[in-house]
Amino acid sequence: MEVKTSLLDNMIGVGDMVLLEVLTEDSFIENLRKRFDHNEIYTYIGSVVISMNPYRPLPIYTPEKVEEYRNRNFYELSPHIFALADEAYRSLRDQDKDQCILITGESGAGKTEASKLVMSYVAAVCGKGQEVNKVKEQLLQSNPVLEAFGNAKTVRNDNSSRFGKYMDIEFDFKGDPLGGVISNYLLEKSRVVKQPRGERNFHIFYQLLSGASDDTLKRLKLDRDFSKYNYLSLDSAAVNGLDDAANFRTVRNAMQIVGFMEDEVQSVLELVAAVLKLGNIEFKPESRSNGTDESRIKDKNDLKEMCELLGIEQSVLERAFSYRTVEAKMEKVATTLNVAQAYYARDALAKNLYSRLFTWLVSRINESIKAQAKTRHKVMGVLDIYGFEIFEDNSFEQFIINYCNEKLQQIFIELTLREEQEEYIREGIEWTNIEYFNNAIICDLIENNQNGILAMLDEECLRPGTVTDETFLDKLNTICAEHQHFESRLSKNSKFLNDHSLPHSCFRIQHYAGKVLYRVEGFVDKNNDLLYRDLSQAMYKANHSLIKQLFPEGNPAKVNLKRPPTAGSQFKASVGTLMRNLQTKNPNYIRCIKPNDKKASHVFTESLVRHQSRYLGLMENVRVRRAGYAFRQPYESCLERYKMLCKRTWPHWKGPAREGVEVLMGELPVPAEEYSYGRSKIFIRNPRTLFFLEERRRQCLQELATLIQKIYRGWKWRTYFLRLKKSQIVVSAWYRRYAQQKKYDKIKSSTIVMQSYIRGWQARKLLRRLKYQKRCEEAVTTITAYWHGTQARMELRRLKQEVRNKHAVTVIWAYWLGTKARRELRRLKEEARRKHAVAVIWAYWQGLKVRREYRKYFRANAGRKIYEFTIQRIMQKYFLSLKSSMPSKSPIDKNWPARPYLFLDAVHTELRRIFHLWRCKKYRSQFTEEKKAVYEEKLEASKLFKDKKALYPSSVSQPFKGDYLEIRKNPKYQKLNSAVEEKVLLADVVNKINRANGKGTARIFLLTKKNFVLADQKTGQVKASVPLPDLTSVSVSTQSDGFFALRLKEGSASAVKGDFLLSSEHLIEIITKLHRIGATAADREQIDIDISDEFLVQFKQDKVCVKFVQGVAKNGNSVSCKRKNNRLLEVSVPTKA
Ligand SMILES: Nc1ncnc2c1ncn2[C@@H]1O[C@H](COP(=O)(O)OP(=O)(O)OP(=O)(O)O)[C@@H](O)[C@H]1O
Ligand SMILES: [Mg+2]
Repeated sequence: MEVKTSLLDNMIGVGDMVLLEVLTEDSFIENLRKRFDHNEIYTYIGSVVISMNPYRPLPIYTPEKVEEYRNRNFYELSPHIFALADEAYRSLRDQDKDQCILITGESGAGKTEASKLVMSYVAAVCGKGQEVNKVKEQLLQSNPVLEAFGNAKTVRNDNSSRFGKYMDIEFDFKGDPLGGVISNYLLEKSRVVKQPRGERNFHIFYQLLSGASDDTLKRLKLDRDFSKYNYLSLDSAAVNGLDDAANFRTVRNAMQIVGFMEDEVQSVLELVAAVLKLGNIEFKPESRSNGTDESRIKDKNDLKEMCELLGIEQSVLERAFSYRTVEAKMEKVATTLNVAQAYYARDALAKNLYSRLFTWLVSRINESIKAQAKTRHKVMGVLDIYGFEIFEDNSFEQFIINYCNEKLQQIFIELTLREEQEEYIREGIEWTNIEYFNNAIICDLIENNQNGILAMLDEECLRPGTVTDETFLDKLNTICAEHQHFESRLSKNSKFLNDHSLPHSCFRIQHYAGKVLYRVEGFVDKNNDLLYRDLSQAMYKANHSLIKQLFPEGNPAKVNLKRPPTAGSQFKASVGTLMRNLQTKNPNYIRCIKPNDKKASHVFTESLVRHQSRYLGLMENVRVRRAGYAFRQPYESCLERYKMLCKRTWPHWKGPAREGVEVLMGELPVPAEEYSYGRSKIFIRNPRTLFFLEERRRQCLQELATLIQKIYRGWKWRTYFLRLKKSQIVVSAWYRRYAQQKKYDKIKSSTIVMQSYIRGWQARKLLRRLKYQKRCEEAVTTITAYWHGTQARMELRRLKQEVRNKHAVTVIWAYWLGTKARRELRRLKEEARRKHAVAVIWAYWQGLKVRREYRKYFRANAGRKIYEFTIQRIMQKYFLSLKSSMPSKSPIDKNWPARPYLFLDAVHTELRRIFHLWRCKKYRSQFTEEKKAVYEEKLEASKLFKDKKALYPSSVSQPFKGDYLEIRKNPKYQKLNSAVEEKVLLADVVNKINRANGKGTARIFLLTKKNFVLADQKTGQVKASVPLPDLTSVSVSTQSDGFFALRLKEGSASAVKGDFLLSSEHLIEIITKLHRIGATAADREQIDIDISDEFLVQFKQDKVCVKFVQGVAKNGNSVSCKRKNNRLLEVSVPTKA
């Protein structure tokens, strides 16, 4: 259940000062104290939050608290900074109003903390997501970085902001943060070179020295000992509760998150180190001959190290510390610097270096947190500017800071008090004027363009001639003497003449927050903020990208002789811009109050609080709130917001909004004095009335919500019910269908069973009947069949009988006819025989008759004569036919006429023989002597070779020519011819086989009756002449080759080289001739002819076997001969295909 809460619940004192029963300053302070004592540090004045610094951590900023305040009405819970942040955020998100949160208060009052709390609250409640979280984280992490470089310990605050900061956080339409822009205002840079007693330099110096690793320090040429550095005041180096080393890590981490590159971080740290080094550079005077004083650097080591860090040439910087170049009338004049000037130059450089670094850091952070989207942004600005300060010794910085606070007070006055009063008047509301102090007059004293203090300071700075702080004070004394907020001993205003609290070199301003005494010393200088050009040029020359960037005016190419605007005027301008910016936004105020000066918790110094509440104008603020109205709203939006509280205005009011509001308020139980009708707005006096309206509205909304819920639920459930009903009908329809189907199926199946039984029974019955019928039919059929069979058989038998009868008849008929025919045939044959016999008998009879008749004409031996005659006739016929069919006279003609009578067989054969002998004789008688010799030779050849040598048949048809070379006639063989005396029987070219290798050589072979000769074929020279008696035998093969071996008698003169192996185409002729010579010669034996396929020959000493083998014809060479070894010579004779 929701817990109803209200500002009024468990209130300590009053949560809203407007609700104070008796409003006096005492009751006001007492209320603050009471609440402070109970840890209630926040109190409202209407919508303004007063925040008391508790100086200790309170458990009121937990995530649970964030949730508690989230989306709650401002007055609903006890006062809290989160309520203000939530109100601002929601009005930004839901009403599209740009917001600004103005946090004011003196130094140490808790402004920076408050601004961080606001930011963290907004970060916690706005949208989430990877991108959004990154933006949030960057926005939040920009704080530690800026605090390290821009905050320092002062006597009032251990973490005092020494610069003004205004941060615009940008949101999209959903309220998600997109990015931000930070503006910084005037860093108190004098702190870099000098700090008041009990204060420190900026945190970063201490953090770097305590937190950096040894390596980093070595690289930066730094020593961890603070006392080594002139710019770090020693007396307050360590601050209670501040862990510089841990903070350094936090800062580095934050820089990384914000998006600084590692090299950028390094550059920044190098610059910080350089500032420390710069502070250690010391000068000593050196008198020159012309009497002027010159400064010299005491120990150049620090200078050297600094130059190394920043990449500056040492001599350049050294010169810049010794000389100052002034340009006058286009001429450059270098003047030497004395020790004081050198120190001034050094400090100016350190201050500039540091403050420019700080400005660069802000712009670098801005670059990272810049919103990306180009859509329209909603903006929430958070202003955390240095608080109002009053030190013992106040200088230009305090003057500037307090001027800024003056302006802020003015805007507060303008927007809250004056605006409010003016609005009442505008709206025609009765109003009793509340007196309040308007500080516009003080602002005018400072910023007036003609005679304001800043304008005069500028004038003094720009004025030619000697300008000192005193001349500036003189000027102030004359011009501001009459101003009621300006006090000076030497002013024309005589009332201060004897005021000893006012030293001569000071002036005092009565600020809205109190009187502050300013010492003029340094005003002119600080306003001028001059850095010698030699120094800026030296810096520009540095081989360090960041330094170069920080001193753009040092670029010799861009020398600008125009004076830069003074610090005062710059600040005035930026404050002006800030004020204009703030005026466009919806302001939310946090007024910070510090309860004591000791930074102590639980201590409430009444006087201090009273003072602050006075100068902050808090009482006036409450008074205005109480006297006037706590809340106002245009009629339209009021009616729109509360129209549900009255039946007449709900849901629509048709008529002017004001009337609607009047009707509405008239109906509500709110006393009439609680509200007033303005021209365009309704004014509600007390917040309670507003709470009441809000509460009623909330109830109404709840009721409406309930109604809507009710109707919606009704609709939802009715729809659900209808759906259920519809589905139930569908379900039941389906179920019924299913049940009926089931039932039907059951009936159907039982019907089918019954049916089947009945049908079965019927069928069986039918079957029985049919079977009976069938049997009857079958019986009938069988009987019929039998009957028909019997009948058929009977018929068949009858028919068969008939056929048999018919056949018998036919057969009988046939037999009968046969018998008749045979009888006829026999009769006819008998008749024919008889006729023949008659004829024969007739013939014989006739013959006999003839013979009987002619017998008387023949003699008794006539028969023999007839016989001889017949024989004679036959022989005659035979010879005549033989004569006509004689065969040819060729001896080889085998034809002979056929024998006509068997008895002539012997005669016929004899006649044939005689005829053949005769025709042979005839043939022979035609032969000449030579031909006869030839045939004799042929006959001899036949005897020798027929059926013995395969070559023989081919030689039969070749005539034996003998002298193939015509040796006697051919002149070519003349020489040979003369060598041979005998008659040449045969002359032919033969192939002599080489005994060694079997290769053939052509030789002329001559055969005479006595010898045979082998001669060279070309020359005719006789190679061998062998007498025939030396030739014992001739060997040839049985095959078709022409090889023959002439075997010589052993020991004869011709046989020296051995036997001859020759080959000739006319082998048969040669051998036959050799044989015939042997046969005819009476003096010697006949030559043996040895026909065999293997025979031995004598080659010199070797007996070589000549072997004939069957081979294959190669390259047309029919017979090849090869000496295989010394025992074998092989002749390959191709087989005839
Ligand atoms: N709400 C708070 N809870 C706890 N401590 C606080 C709170 N507000 C401020 N303080 C303490 O007070 C100190 C000073 O606060 P803070 O730095 O915000 O002052 P400031 O108003 O910004 O001062 P300056 O004008 O010098 O910057 C803080 O360092 C912190 O210790
Ligand atoms: Mg601060």
